[in-house]
Amino acid sequence: MADHLSITDSRNGKVYEVPIQDGTIKAMDLRQIKTGPEDFGLMTYDPAFMNTASCKSTITYIDGDKGILRYRGYPIEQLAEKSSYLEVAYLLLNGELPTEGQLKDFTSWTVRHSMLHENIKKFMEGFNHDAHPMGMLVSTVAALSTFYPDAKQIHDPDVRRRQIYRLIAKMPTIGAYGYRHRLGLPYVYPSEEFSYTGNFLAMMYKRLEKDYKVNPVLERALDILFILHADHEQNCGTNAMRSIGSSYADPYVSCAGAAAALYGPLHGGANEQVLTMLREIGSKEKIPAFIKDVKEGHGEKRLMGFGHRVYKNYDPRAKIIKQTAEQVFSVTGRNPLLDIAIELERIALEDEYFVKRKLYPNVDFYSGIIYQAMGFPTDAFTVLFAIPRTSGWLAQWEELLQDSDQKIARPRQIYLGHQTRDVVPIGQRH
Ligand code: CMC
Repeated sequence: MADHLSITDSRNGKVYEVPIQDGTIKAMDLRQIKTGPEDFGLMTYDPAFMNTASCKSTITYIDGDKGILRYRGYPIEQLAEKSSYLEVAYLLLNGELPTEGQLKDFTSWTVRHSMLHENIKKFMEGFNHDAHPMGMLVSTVAALSTFYPDAKQIHDPDVRRRQIYRLIAKMPTIGAYGYRHRLGLPYVYPSEEFSYTGNFLAMMYKRLEKDYKVNPVLERALDILFILHADHEQNCGTNAMRSIGSSYADPYVSCAGAAAALYGPLHGGANEQVLTMLREIGSKEKIPAFIKDVKEGHGEKRLMGFGHRVYKNYDPRAKIIKQTAEQVFSVTGRNPLLDIAIELERIALEDEYFVKRKLYPNVDFYSGIIYQAMGFPTDAFTVLFAIPRTSGWLAQWEELLQDSDQKIARPRQIYLGHQTRDVVPIGQRH
C-alpha cells in the first residue's frame, strides 16, 4: 500500500487513511473526518502558515537547517560568482540559464521597456518632497496598471511576457525617479549604454557629467546583491503576489501588493531598520547593553537583521554579502558601522538566547551597510530589495497561473464570535 497516514478519530473510533505525497497530506483529505452529517469536517489551524505548503513549485529550494539556497537547482554561491542578475531573472522565469543569444534578446527587451510614460513623471510629482521611497514605489507600480490595460489578459502567454519585461525593466527607473524626486533633481532617462545595475546607478547618481561612468566594482556588487534578492520561495511578499494573483488581478497591482508586504519591518523593511539600529548603538562598547535590552524585551525589541522563519542556520546570502562588502569598501572607504555589525554578530552568536532560538544574521544584516557606503539613503534600501525581487514575484505568478491545482486563495477561519443575536435599537443599547 502507498504511503499513508492512519488517523483514528477518538470522538467515534473511526479510522481514516490519508495518502502521504511529497512529505505532505492534503488538508482537504481531512474534511471527510466528521462526527455526523451536520459536522463541516476537520480543518487544520495554521496561522502564519507555520507548517502549510500553499503550492508546488520548481523555482527556489531552501534547506533552512543546512543554510542552502538554490534557484532552479543552481546553488546561490555559484550564481553569485558566475552569472549576472539578468541571467538569474531569465533563469527564474524560464527554468534554464540563457544562452548568449537568449540573454541578448532578454537584455534588449529590458532596455526597450525601461522608459516610463511621461505621465508617470507627473504622477510622481504629486508626492511630497519627503515621501517614503517604498510608498512611492508601491503606488507607482500599481499606477502602471492604468497605463497597460492589456495586462488584464493574464491567460495570454505573450501578453503576460510583455508585462513581465515591462515590470523588470521599469522597476529601477521608478526607484531612481523616486530618489531624484525627493532631492528635487531632474529625472535621468534610462540608457542602453549601461548594464541593468549600471543603468540604475546612472539614473540615481548622474549629475552634470557629459559621460557618466559607472564604477565597475560597485556595479558588480549591486548585481550580486540583486542576484541574492531575486527570489526566496514563499515568503510574505511572494505569498501576497500569489494571493492577489490568484484572483486574476493584473501583474502590476499584484506586484504592488507584494512590494507593500515587503515594505514591512519584519520583512524587506528590516534592512532599513538594521541601519537605524546600528546608528542607535553607535559604538562597540554599547553592544552588550543593547543585547541585554533585546533579551529582556520579550520579543518587543528585536535584533534587526537576525532570525528567519526558514533559516535556522547562517543565511547563505548574508555570507556572500559580507564578502562583497570588502570589495565595495575598497572603492567607497570602510563603513564604520561594519565594525559594530561584526561585533554585534560575534556577541549574539555566542549568546545563549540567540543560540537556543537558532537566530543567525539574515540577508538584511549586512546589505544596508553596503548600500549606505554606495550612497543610497537608508529609507531607500527596501527599494533595492523590491527591484530584484520583481523577477521572483513574476516567476512565481506565472507558475501559479499555470498550476491546475491552484484556485483563488481563500483561507478558512475558526469562528469564535457570537452566534445569532437580535439588533437592539440604538437608544436602548448600553
Ligand atoms: N531578535 C530577538 N529575538 C528574536 C528575533 C530577533 N531578531 N527573531 C526572533 N526572535 C525570538 C522571538 O522573540 C521568539 O522568542 P520566544 O520563543 O522566546 O518567544 C523566537 O525568537 C522565535 O521568533 P518568531 O517571531 O516566532 O519567529 P518567526 O519565524 O515568526 O519570525 C522573523 C521570523 C524574521 C520575522 C524574526 O526572526 C524577526 O522579527 N527578525 C527581525 C526582522 C528581520 O531581520 N527580518 C528580515 C527577515 S530576512 C529578509 C526577508 O524578509 O526575506
